[in-house]
Amino acid sequence: MHSSSHRLGFAGLFAATVAFGQDAAFNPLQYVDQLIGSRNGGNIFPGASLPYGMAKAVADTSSGSNQGGFTLDGTPVTGFSALHDSGTGGSPSLGNFPLFPYASCPEDDINQCAFPKPTRQAFGSFSESNVVARPGYFGITLNSGIGAEMTTTHHTALFRFTFPATSGNASHPLILQDLTDLSDSRQDNGTVSVDPETGRITGNARFRSSFSQGLYVAYFCTDFSGNPILDNGIFVDSRASTDVKDLTVSRGINQGPLPGGAFVRFESADTPVLARVGLSFLSSEQACSNAEAEIPDYDFESVEKAASDAWSEKLSPIVVSTGGGVEQDLLTNFYSGIYRTMVNPQNYTGENPLWDSGEPYFDSFYCLWDSFRSQIPFLTITDPSSVAQMLRSLIDTYRQEGWLPDCRMTFSKGYTQGGSNADVVLADGLLKGIVDGIDWDTGYEAVIKDAEVEPFDWSSEGRGGLDSWKRLGYVPVQDFDYKGFGTMTRSISRTLEYSYNDFVISQMAKILNKTSDMEKYLDSSESWKNLYKSDQTSALDDGTSTGYVGFFQPKFLNETWGFQDPLWCSNIDNSTSRACSLQNNAQETFESSIWEYGFFVPHNQGDLIALYGGPSEFVRRLDYLHDTEITYIGNEPAFLTVFQYHYAGRPGLSAKRSHFYIPEYFSTTPEGLPGNDDSGAMGSFVAFSMMGLFPNPGQNVYLITPPFFESVNITSPLTGKTSIIRNVNFDPNYEAIYIQSATLDGIPYTKNWVDHSFFTEGKELVLTLGRNESTWGTSVTDLPPSVGDYVGFNGTFNARRAIRGSELRRSVNMRRASFGLY
Ligand SMILES: *[C@@H]1O[C@H](CO)[C@@H](O)[C@H](O)[C@H]1NC(C)=O
Ligand SMILES: *[C@@H]1O[C@H](CO)[C@@H](O)[C@H](O)[C@H]1NC(C)=O
Ligand SMILES: *[C@@H]1O[C@H](CO)[C@@H](O)[C@H](O)[C@H]1NC(C)=O
Ligand SMILES: *[C@@H]1O[C@H](CO)[C@@H](O)[C@H](O)[C@H]1NC(C)=O
Ligand SMILES: *[C@@H]1O[C@H](CO)[C@@H](O)[C@H](O)[C@H]1NC(C)=O
Ligand SMILES: *[C@@H]1O[C@H](CO)[C@@H](O)[C@H](O)[C@H]1NC(C)=O
Ligand SMILES: *[C@@H]1O[C@H](CO)[C@@H](O)[C@H](O)[C@H]1NC(C)=O
Ligand SMILES: *[C@@H]1O[C@H](CO)[C@@H](O)[C@H](O)[C@H]1NC(C)=O
Ligand SMILES: *[C@@H]1O[C@H](CO)[C@@H](O)[C@H](O)[C@H]1NC(C)=O
Repeated sequence: MHSSSHRLGFAGLFAATVAFGQDAAFNPLQYVDQLIGSRNGGNIFPGASLPYGMAKAVADTSSGSNQGGFTLDGTPVTGFSALHDSGTGGSPSLGNFPLFPYASCPEDDINQCAFPKPTRQAFGSFSESNVVARPGYFGITLNSGIGAEMTTTHHTALFRFTFPATSGNASHPLILQDLTDLSDSRQDNGTVSVDPETGRITGNARFRSSFSQGLYVAYFCTDFSGNPILDNGIFVDSRASTDVKDLTVSRGINQGPLPGGAFVRFESADTPVLARVGLSFLSSEQACSNAEAEIPDYDFESVEKAASDAWSEKLSPIVVSTGGGVEQDLLTNFYSGIYRTMVNPQNYTGENPLWDSGEPYFDSFYCLWDSFRSQIPFLTITDPSSVAQMLRSLIDTYRQEGWLPDCRMTFSKGYTQGGSNADVVLADGLLKGIVDGIDWDTGYEAVIKDAEVEPFDWSSEGRGGLDSWKRLGYVPVQDFDYKGFGTMTRSISRTLEYSYNDFVISQMAKILNKTSDMEKYLDSSESWKNLYKSDQTSALDDGTSTGYVGFFQPKFLNETWGFQDPLWCSNIDNSTSRACSLQNNAQETFESSIWEYGFFVPHNQGDLIALYGGPSEFVRRLDYLHDTEITYIGNEPAFLTVFQYHYAGRPGLSAKRSHFYIPEYFSTTPEGLPGNDDSGAMGSFVAFSMMGLFPNPGQNVYLITPPFFESVNITSPLTGKTSIIRNVNFDPNYEAIYIQSATLDGIPYTKNWVDHSFFTEGKELVLTLGRNESTWGTSVTDLPPSVGDYVGFNGTFNARRAIRGSELRRSVNMRRASFGLY
């Protein structure tokens, strides 16, 4: 049931005193609530799936925000389908071939049943208290009294439909299957056939990929069990016939495709109907054989058990203490976040119609712009062998299609939002030692291509404006670009992302001993400085100055400044007409403001802090960003800003800020997410924040804050070693959230960050907490690496050495002079 105990308010709900040792049967699944984010635009997929599973079964609603299929916003169910994405924006993805059950048709006449989606939803209303979701299972009872339960294997969904006892013996349940998807994107020519004897329904259709120009074809094979078949046939629009068994249906010329599909009727409403839906992207035959191999005997309970066991195993590397007075809600928040990091991407290995190379194939990287920041880095800790397969898939996609994806769904190239952020994903994996079967030579070739070769269509791959970028060291507003094409906006955020993408390439080059490349990309990683306008001010709408001077600004080809108000496209921008996304008339920062992008220099906080007037001014500006809600934690660029206080020597303020956002903006209710979960990106933000180590992705750096629990144990699946983070003086009211001192493996430790060996070598970090900030982690030698030195701090530290490995020449001006040679 949806209304479980962890929905109670915060007040007075304390954890059971039972302490779970790691050996005891700690079951993290009890803390997973899949319905978090099922309202208010979270767009999560709350249904039944395996980790990274292709089959994802849930009830679909008619909500305008049904990207994940199901919502708890009062809209009715339109069907039960078994392919989905999770947490995305864009138009709703997948949701193909929904089933819809009736206990009977009025007067036993099939033509009196409602077939098309718009009319059948009148029979799909339900009450929230009749929804049950748990890992590997989704169940709902409609107000009609029909029960629908579902579970999945990797490519197959198993549904169990039950009919109200009052149906009577004259009642002949009907289950239809519709050749449509969530966004009614079917093209010509959907086909469906029903076998008169067995009632097996097979079919396929071509659909639109959601955030892309591409199309894909999906296939299915549906078999029934448990209830003798009465008759069957096909339907078109609102009319059906048992005489016709095969249908090919046109898209139609009006909005949306013409409804069409097949149906099967059963002899009695007394026994449940089991419907097994096999899925494939190759053929209906493959869909049938997937189903037959994976669910030979329609044993619902054993399929569900296998799915729930798979989730238990994936969640097992992280065990937190449930004691110390920590509220159950926070445990639910934490494990539900972790759960969502493994719903997408989806493992389509063996189901790729485009190529068969023997390499793993993962899809639904939707989008890497979201997931490079913390979702994939999270999996690097808890599920490195799956990350290795994902990286191999990204590299193989480059091999086959010529480019790394930036966003990918249903075998199509999704739209790029900024830089080429697969570069960060690859670099993060390489420097954290993900090596399993990965061809790093080709991986390196792929990121170099992003940096060096402009694609003709850079709206779906690579980077645009490369001639200007190389010649001028920035992406100009109103660039002249005749080599490749994409939306000519976002010149500031693209400059910042390209700078960071080049930085991570330099770090790959360093590991791969390509010294001159390391130098080259380290130099171009400094390009962000070219858009910094030191005298730029920022004021509110009423003219009041924010009090800060020095912001990024757009620059023209002729190297003169353009103008964009630093607060435009921020969370407090009061304009209702401003375009801030991928529109042709959008601004120079993508889905965010100059204010927020003003912190996106993940590799050179030293120089950024200096530009902003030193550490205390930097902290004051970061506070203003958060306190005035210029930033919005519901979009991914905000993530790192929560923890950037570490770089100014104030790690305590990062801890304070993460408690400001959790649970205020991330709670365990259906509306408990501040924005689209974005394939688990938000889930990973919650998980990392509460675990107490937040990554700066693309760098071997985790910023230390106290976990929200007394202790956290993380067992590395690679080495089998367990790392431990333990709070001394743990305070469940979170007033004592300031680290006073720390030890690492028993030795005093003052750095405010650790590297990935913490996890692989199973180290132990003990944090002693207090109610006030301390000097722990504040001195310049305690700070994480930065390309530029930290100045204005007490003490000196050559931060650059940590980045390069050796002290080498660095000059933006020299780099720009050398670009003149191109
Ligand atoms: C249906 O028929 C069976 C046997 O013919 C009978 O036992 C049962 O009570 C009937 N159920 C209803 C709801 O009429
Ligand atoms: C759809 O089917 C019709 C009838 O067989 C055929 O004429 C038409 O070419 C098909 N269209 C496509 C896009 O395959
Ligand atoms: C973490 O591991 C240590 C050492 O094995 C153990 O003593 C402790 O109970 C574990 N903590 C939890 C929360 O399981
Ligand atoms: C992906 O699917 C393939 C083929 O079924 C399987 O061999 C592989 O283990 C799967 N990988 C993950 C991470 O689930
Ligand atoms: C890079 O050079 C170091 C030192 O010579 C060596 O240990 C390492 O194996 C080299 N790495 C690669 C990828 O060649
Ligand atoms: C937008 O309006 C709100 C409410 O009046 C105000 O607090 C905020 O400062 C305004 N935004 C800007 C950029 O001035
Ligand atoms: C530079 O280009 C901008 C945009 O075309 C134009 O408005 C400005 O006058 C130019 N400035 C100079 C000095 O040429
Ligand atoms: C902590 O700070 C508060 C005010 O910020 C102060 O009153 C208190 O004395 C401090 N406690 C310690 C132990 O320094
Ligand atoms: C430097 O040290 C002094 C004296 O301990 C302290 O007051 C000041 O806050 C420190 N400054 C920074 C930036 O850490």
